[in-house]
Amino acid sequence: MVQLTLPKNSKMSEGKNWGKPDGATKLTEFRIYRWNPDDGKTPTIDTYYVDRDDCGPMVLDGLIWIKNKIDPTLTFRRSCREGICGSCAMNIDGTNNLACLKGMDEVMGDVVKIYPLPHLPVVKDLVPDLTNFYTQHRSIEPWLQTTTTQPEKEWKQSREDREKLDGLYECILCACCSTSCPSYWWNSDRYLGPAVLLQAYRWLIDSRDEATGERLDNLEDPFRLYRCHTIMNCAQTCPKGLNPAKAIAEVKKMMVERRV
Ligand code: SF4
Ligand code: SF4
Ligand code: FES
Repeated sequence: MVQLTLPKNSKMSEGKNWGKPDGATKLTEFRIYRWNPDDGKTPTIDTYYVDRDDCGPMVLDGLIWIKNKIDPTLTFRRSCREGICGSCAMNIDGTNNLACLKGMDEVMGDVVKIYPLPHLPVVKDLVPDLTNFYTQHRSIEPWLQTTTTQPEKEWKQSREDREKLDGLYECILCACCSTSCPSYWWNSDRYLGPAVLLQAYRWLIDSRDEATGERLDNLEDPFRLYRCHTIMNCAQTCPKGLNPAKAIAEVKKMMVERRV
């Protein structure tokens, strides 16, 4: 039988236990992935204790509390703290999620376990390298494309056509779905993944866009689109409640319809 083992430089070990803060009575334990590209060491899991009487309720509040009160070297992305910017996406308790939308009390068990989004190169600690993800997004040309003469004021859209964008425009490009997709894990160099394909569909069904044919040509490829095997991890993990798998199915349907 094939033995699968992690490469030497990826093996994780027990890291530092930063101890319990003095005088705190209500504590939540955090176990957090740490990796620093500059110290030449392999990744570790550090243990921290958050004083819940001195901290907000969400996982992101806990991370900020740790950074401010215990360990300023802990590195993670965040900005809006209300599920809008997508920066705080990480793997919490075994599922990709936004740290600002996940309550510490919603975690199963007593310990909050946090890793970076899976199957992406790590820049440091909980910060993944999203370069490929953004390059793929750029490749679908996510902007309105038209050939008819520009209207004087604005491109009009009926209420019904505007409603077709519901469930798509809300995507914040957090990458939780793509990094939960097994097809994307193994083929992220060629498969666009659920987030970018949902975005592609958002432009394909925009009634104002006039590049539908070119957009479909751009996706007509055994890897870019057709690596989706409807495993549905993407829809289960999306913190905004969107369904990228459905959007992908709609794109495939458009491909078939233009052939007949
Ligand atoms: S449905 Fe498709 S895109 Fe979504 S997780 Fe499965 S394979 Fe990936
Ligand atoms: S579809 Fe959902 S999980 Fe995927 S990038 Fe958009 S908001 Fe994030
Ligand atoms: S901080 Fe912006 S989505 Fe969490």
